Amino acid sequence: MEVQQPPRSSPWPDLDRLIVSSRPARDYELMFALELAALAGRRVLDCPGGASSFAAEAADAGADVSAVDPLYVLSADELRRRLASDVELAFGVHDERPEIDSDWLAEQKERWRVAGERFFADYRPDGRTRRYQPAVLPDLPFADAEFDVALVSHLLFTYDAVDPDAGLRELLRVVRPGGTIRIHPLVASDGVPYPVERVLAWLEGDGHRGEVVEVPYGKARGVGRSLIVTRGAATR
Ligand SMILES: C[S@@+](CC[C@H](N)C(=O)[O-])C[C@H]1O[C@@H](n2cnc3c(N)ncnc32)[C@H](O)[C@@H]1O
Repeated sequence: MEVQQPPRSSPWPDLDRLIVSSRPARDYELMFALELAALAGRRVLDCPGGASSFAAEAADAGADVSAVDPLYVLSADELRRRLASDVELAFGVHDERPEIDSDWLAEQKERWRVAGERFFADYRPDGRTRRYQPAVLPDLPFADAEFDVALVSHLLFTYDAVDPDAGLRELLRVVRPGGTIRIHPLVASDGVPYPVERVLAWLEGDGHRGEVVEVPYGKARGVGRSLIVTRGAATR
């Protein structure tokens, strides 16, 4: 299949910059303090989806889910190769960081492998389903107020690929009033905590509610906190 490339003038990030990961839906449940079963009948956005099995598993649980990622311009074979090399990078940290338990790393790597297989069994990058759409924050191909819930695992506040305020404002546009945006983690990839109080202040000023919650995911690594934003009546 011919590989589409984003137009040169587009704001799409360099596709090689961020590691692609394949977390299972169980990780999303723990990160975002939610249960898959509660998403049945809901319109759900996974941004970025990467090679996570969340979208496939949430769809099985009855959610109407769309995942977006710039890497969804890639064919399944290309994305599979990309994931395989990124997984080695992500889990090959033991020499540099011997404090990380090697049994835990091996267990996580296996969980990512299984989730990746689940993802590739579902992945259709040819536009025949609306489940996997190539797109980037802060420019999403969705209508205003289309989603009940938007989930952001390991992008905003973590990597500088997107301005967090612009990304969050775009998510507020596509989530309905009363809907939620859930973001994890609240630290940069080098472990420095993001100054989330600044974000809470502008959210409140714009009529939204932001709450930092403790979550079990990442607790042992000191990153067990997520931001839950409830959209107010208007977006400004
Ligand atoms: C660390 S992965 C997270 C994947 C998945 N959420 C998970 O937890 O397994 C980060 C992903 O963000 C994607 N990405 C990078 N810049 C982006 C942007 N501006 N908008 C949406 N996705 C982006 C990358 O292609 C990559 O797949």
